[in-house]
Amino acid sequence: MKKIAVFTSGGDAPGMNACIRAVVRTGLKMGVEVIGIREGFEGMIDGNFVSMDRKSVSGIIHLGGTILHSARSDRFRTKEGRKEAFRQLQAAGIEGVIAIGGDGTFTGADIFTKEFNIPFVGTPGTIDNDLYGTDFTIGYDTAINTAMHAIDNIKDTANAHHRLFIIEVMGRDAGFIALRSGIATGAEAILIPESKTDTEALTRILSLNEQKKKRANIIVVAEGDEEGGAFEIAKKIKEQFPSFETKVTILGHIQRGGRPTCMERVMASRLGMEAVRALLNGKRSVMVGQVHKEVVYTPFEKAIKHHQRVNPILMEMVEMLA
Ligand code: F6P
Repeated sequence: MKKIAVFTSGGDAPGMNACIRAVVRTGLKMGVEVIGIREGFEGMIDGNFVSMDRKSVSGIIHLGGTILHSARSDRFRTKEGRKEAFRQLQAAGIEGVIAIGGDGTFTGADIFTKEFNIPFVGTPGTIDNDLYGTDFTIGYDTAINTAMHAIDNIKDTANAHHRLFIIEVMGRDAGFIALRSGIATGAEAILIPESKTDTEALTRILSLNEQKKKRANIIVVAEGDEEGGAFEIAKKIKEQFPSFETKVTILGHIQRGGRPTCMERVMASRLGMEAVRALLNGKRSVMVGQVHKEVVYTPFEKAIKHHQRVNPILMEMVEMLA
């Protein structure tokens, strides 16, 4: 291989820039030309390519977002769109691609590589941490720290005013952000899509706290929880506990941006470096992850199909320590 490309796709995640930097610098060191594809699969279809040199990735390791930008592409879902993307890659002489993204990205990459003969290797980039084949995804550590700091702040004011807060964090299909940020802030309850909410247990905890006159009550809910969003849950609690002064905070996209943590930068850099090595050593259609500190290669199909499982110990901790 003489020329490879790198792109970021789907929801951006802090640490993507560190990963891009590692891909570019490793590629150049290993003697290949590196092209950046802007705007994810959209840019692939449009031939939105830029040549990357060492300098093009200077001073970005600490930045959130992605210098290559991202998009959710409807055109790439069509055969026509993918055909055009392949034509653009071929015209530019690109022989292999590194994809940084989540399950949507790898689903697209998997379909594409089965239709057209071009090798792809992925690195897991999503704040949701919902990919099988890696302990942590790029962006997750930063997102949980952002959520944790925000919840800490809310707890101060909840305590000052004797209020109950329902705090909604991101995670359309996954509760990993809710779980860790909730445990780290001593939440009374954490509601996630992976487990059915035990409303009786929730009522028990809140009744007890009402009796004890606990000043700050925090419930963390993942946006995809089956009980509905934070407003829906607040309504139900208010009906049951009219004495509680109940407030809702939706943290939203604040969790997607910001400076990546140290752990994030180091892991993203390692995965970027290993992805280039894997691609140049002939690996195909795999996601490069890190499990128990070791690099692990998981076929796209498997990474998409099997979601990461929630650690039962973490669930136990919530019940035991609330
Ligand atoms: O990147 C993952 C994620 O942040 C989910 O947790 C969330 O549901 C979704 O993306 C939001 O996506 P968008 O910014 O496109 O609305």
